[in-house]
Amino acid sequence: MTTAVCPGSFDPVTLGHLDVIGRAAAVVEHLVVAVGRNSGKRSLFSVAERVEMLVEVCAPYANVTVEEFDGLLVDFCTTRGATVICKGLRGASDTDYEVQMAQLNRRLSGVDTVFLPTAPELSFVSSTRVRELAAFGGDLADLVAPTVAARVRAKAQASG
Ligand code: PNS
Repeated sequence: MTTAVCPGSFDPVTLGHLDVIGRAAAVVEHLVVAVGRNSGKRSLFSVAERVEMLVEVCAPYANVTVEEFDGLLVDFCTTRGATVICKGLRGASDTDYEVQMAQLNRRLSGVDTVFLPTAPELSFVSSTRVRELAAFGGDLADLVAPTVAARVRAKAQASG
């Protein structure tokens, strides 16, 4: 069975992430969406909240599971029997960082990374823009799923 890991911070999961998750799930037998604990970023949502949102939006995909992980991504891949990492690429601004991570992960473990180009109509979408837009009361409809938008708005109201 081919198991792949789709890692990220998912703070929160966007329609861009979901596009990549759905397309990756279509080409592997089992896809583990892995929420990193240690990405070094200040987060809006706790890891548990991010996992909850992902479980909700990934429900249509029978072969997708969601987990959190701590430590090195390649160690998580090994413990789950995953032979490949799947990541989305929005464009040149993602490429330097993502290629460097992919090369390092392969050197560390032999686990390779497959990149999926983000759907062009979603290439402007990022979790950072979602959080910023929410802080100013902007419309999130084109960026995240409705259940996620509700949670982001509630969080933004509570913290603003
Ligand atoms: O795309 P993102 O949201 O920046 O993803 C971040 C994440 C969690 C995938 C990345 O930070 C990660 O892989 N963290 C685990 C630590 C690790 O394995 N780093 C690479 C070798 S130093």
